[in-house]
Amino acid sequence: MSYLGIDIGTSSIKVSLINAQQQLLATKSINIPIQRPNPLYSEQNPEDWWNAVVTAIDYLQNNYANQWQHLKSIGITGQQHGAVCLDKNGAVVYPAILWNDGRSYQEAQFLNSNYADFLHINGNLVLPGFTAPKIFWLQKHKPEIYQQVSTILLPKDYIRYRLTGEYASDLSDASGTSWLDVKNRKWSEKLLQICQLDISYMPKLYEGTAISGYLHSNLQHAWGIKNSVTVVGGGGDNAAGAVSVGVICHGKAMLSLGTSGVYFIAQDSYLPMDNGISHSFCHCIPQMWHHMGVILSAASCLSWLSLISSKAEHKLIANAQTQRYDADATPLFLPYLSGERTPHNNPFARGMFFGITHTTQLKDLTNAVLEGVAYAIKDCEEILPNTKQVESLAIIGGGAKSNYWGQIIANVLNKTIVFYDETKIGPSFGAALLALAGDNGINVSDLEINPLIIKEINPQPQLINFYQQKHEKFKALYQQTKNLNNLNL
Ligand code: XUL
Repeated sequence: MSYLGIDIGTSSIKVSLINAQQQLLATKSINIPIQRPNPLYSEQNPEDWWNAVVTAIDYLQNNYANQWQHLKSIGITGQQHGAVCLDKNGAVVYPAILWNDGRSYQEAQFLNSNYADFLHINGNLVLPGFTAPKIFWLQKHKPEIYQQVSTILLPKDYIRYRLTGEYASDLSDASGTSWLDVKNRKWSEKLLQICQLDISYMPKLYEGTAISGYLHSNLQHAWGIKNSVTVVGGGGDNAAGAVSVGVICHGKAMLSLGTSGVYFIAQDSYLPMDNGISHSFCHCIPQMWHHMGVILSAASCLSWLSLISSKAEHKLIANAQTQRYDADATPLFLPYLSGERTPHNNPFARGMFFGITHTTQLKDLTNAVLEGVAYAIKDCEEILPNTKQVESLAIIGGGAKSNYWGQIIANVLNKTIVFYDETKIGPSFGAALLALAGDNGINVSDLEINPLIIKEINPQPQLINFYQQKHEKFKALYQQTKNLNNLNL
């Protein structure tokens, strides 16, 4: 038997095929484009997601036919918060507005200032990246398009719709719409009403392992699968990624360094925070919740430096390893290439290098970028609950390839960073595990998820002070420059 996880990432679609023993059978990634037609905009075409999913599945069918034909269940995961608007026939009426799109900052502000219900019921402030303000923006700025909308889905749930015909979501992902009653794990009619919506616009909710539908029989036959295939609830990419590294019980923590950077900590009860900016969401497993702080640009900052310097990322990192540990003589980088969510909630924040001289080299800029992302993650940690007790964090995502970056993060957080075999972890693997548990009617904890640890990187006591000093400067740099960034839109 085999189980498939599909991850609708921001830079690529990834699929992972596993067997009942949780072993990876095959994996495939397909890159997808992103469109930024205006300042603050970040969009994708849902058809690009679907085409990439089909291409990845064709690859599995052609290259792993024996394992593929025994597919039993699919788990779906993906980038959170994106708004996919469908008309009454299920056709997409507007490009998907993504999690790192900041255009709806005014709508978010309006909802927060006028309706404390969001903080009370959803447990979070309405942030511009979340789904509700995007719909509010569409209502205000594209009324002729909004009139056609009859269903609102999250990115992964659009793929579920194409696979099964069902409008469904899971609770971890639904938490990030602003419309979920996170404590009671159901849609809030009151919050929907504030946005002139009702439950009919919303997908049906499931826990991550619950069966939400069945693969269309025509797809099952076209894809050469022998028996009917269930599709489970799945989870937001961070929750599913957490499952893949066993972050499923209270106090366990994970760091994800993908396009976004996430500090994720699992909780066994609902714990809203007054600040409203550290996300308080349902986990994708029953009776569990989690908190996370999310920075909008993480591994993507290194990709950016690689692009503009025409040097491969691994080369940049290799050259950066002769670092000068002088806090006053090394540059700083603010990683706010798409604005920032946690803790600043500021779509206008922008990236910046500071402290450059005639002697600054590319390796210094690289160190500044790697450190800047680590400081932004540290800013998240400082506003999240229960992080003092965290001694080690599992690391997932593209940034998890580099030991050197892991060492910087370990030093900045003063915590151990645990590396796994990266092909056997991550959101798509986690989603496949949800499918495995769900299809067999067992709990995720019964799977005894225990991925192979490749390396544990401990903080270096002699360098903690250097990074602390730079982190203080990093915070001051943002505070002292943030008002210069008001874009003239
Ligand atoms: C989470 C978030 C991002 C996206 C993209 O709140 O916005 O991590 O899920 O991966």
